[in-house]
Amino acid sequence: MASYNIALNFEDGVTRFVDCKDGEKVLDAAFRSKINLPMDCSDGVCGTCKCRAESGSYDLGDDFVDDALTPDEAEAGLVLTCQMKPSSDCVIAVPTTSTACKTGQQKFGATVARVTQHNDAAILLELDVDAATAPAFLPGQYVNIDVPGSGQSRSYSFSTAPGEQRIGFLIKKIPDGLMSNWLAGTKPGDRLDLTGPLGSFYLRNVERPLLFLAGGTGLAPFLSMLEILARTGSDEKIHLIYGVTRDLDLVLVDKIEDYIARLPNFTFTTVVAEDASSHPYKGWVTQHMPPDVLHGGDVDVYLCGPPPMVDAVRKHFDDNGVKPRCFHYEKFTPNAMAKEAA
Ligand SMILES: Cc1cc2nc3c(=O)[nH]c(=O)nc-3n(C[C@H](O)[C@H](O)[C@H](O)COP(=O)(O)OP(=O)(O)OC[C@H]3O[C@@H](n4cnc5c(N)ncnc54)[C@H](O)[C@@H]3O)c2cc1C
Ligand code: FES
Repeated sequence: MASYNIALNFEDGVTRFVDCKDGEKVLDAAFRSKINLPMDCSDGVCGTCKCRAESGSYDLGDDFVDDALTPDEAEAGLVLTCQMKPSSDCVIAVPTTSTACKTGQQKFGATVARVTQHNDAAILLELDVDAATAPAFLPGQYVNIDVPGSGQSRSYSFSTAPGEQRIGFLIKKIPDGLMSNWLAGTKPGDRLDLTGPLGSFYLRNVERPLLFLAGGTGLAPFLSMLEILARTGSDEKIHLIYGVTRDLDLVLVDKIEDYIARLPNFTFTTVVAEDASSHPYKGWVTQHMPPDVLHGGDVDVYLCGPPPMVDAVRKHFDDNGVKPRCFHYEKFTPNAMAKEAA
C-alpha cells in the first residue's frame, strides 16, 4: 500500500515527519507516531485541528462543516487534519509548539566521514548518519550539532539533499570559534550528536521563478535545494546570486556550475565585496540584481547569510519597493548574538 511522508512543522521550528498510509487521515497518522496534533471533535465540526498545507496534494472530502473550514480557507490552503487524506508527500504548518503536541526535537548520532578544508574560508564537513534510515528534513533546514566536550551546540544548514545517508555542512572558519577549533582537529571516525531537523527556511512548492541570494556559507541550504530541484526538474527560472567578502571565500563554485547542465533554467552570478578583488562582479549582491531576476515581483525570493547581509538585502527591497510574492530568509546568527537577543 502506498504511503506518504508528511512533514509537520511546529511553531517552535521543530519538524517531525510521519508516515501516512494511503487513505489515512493526517490526524490518525500523527497519533500513530505519538504526536497529538490539536483536535477536539475529530469529526470536521469544531475547527480545532485547522492547519496550513504548504505543499502536496490531498483530499479533504465533504464531511466537514463551513464553521470548521470555509471554502475560502480551503482555497487558501488551510486544512482540517482530522479530514485530510494525503495523495502525495505534504508539508503542514501546525499553529502550535511541538511540546504542546507532546513531541519535540529528534536526536541522532553520526560519524565524521570526511573533512575538506577550503583554505582559511570554510570547511565541508561530511557525516555518516547512524542506522539504516537517512534523516528526514526539508531542503533548506538545519540541525544543531553538539561541540564535543563543551556542553554547547552550533546550528548548521544541510548542504546535501534529504534522503542521503551521508550528510554535508558548509561551515565558515571563525578564528578561535568553538566549533571551528574543534573541526580543525577532527578526523574521520570522530562521533557527533545532532538535534533536528529545525527551521522554517525550506523550499516551498515551486510555482513561479526563484531568486536565491546567498551570503558566504549561506550557500549551504541552496545546495540542498538545487539538488532537489535538479532531481525533480523545474520549468521555472532559477537564479542564484552568491556573494562573499574575499575571492578566497568563493567555495564550491564547481558544484554550482554542475547545476547548469542539470537544471536548464538555472543561472548564477558570484559577487565579491572586497576592493582588492579582480573579480568581474564586485560589491554587494544587491548591486548585481538586474530587474529581470525580480520578474516584476512575480518571484519567490530565498535569502540566507550573516545577519548584516540579510538585513541589507531586506532594506534594499524596502527602499526600492521590491515586493516579491514570497520572501523567505534565514540569518546565520552567531551563538553569542542569539544569546544577547534572548
Ligand atoms: C539557523 C542557523 C543556521 C546556520 N547555518 C550555518 C551554516 O550552514 N554554515 C555556517 O558556517 N554557519 C552557520 N550558522 C552559524 C553557526 O551556527 C555558528 O554561529 C558559526 O559557525 C560560529 O561557530 P563557532 O563555534 O566556530 O564560533 P563561536 O565560538 O560561536 O564564535 C567565536 C566568536 O566569533 C564571533 N562570530 C561567530 N560567527 C561569526 C561570523 N560569521 N562572523 C564574524 N564573527 C563571528 C562570535 O560572536 C564570537 O565572538 C548558522 C546559524 C544559525 C542560527
Ligand atoms: S478536530 Fe474538530 S474539525 Fe478536526
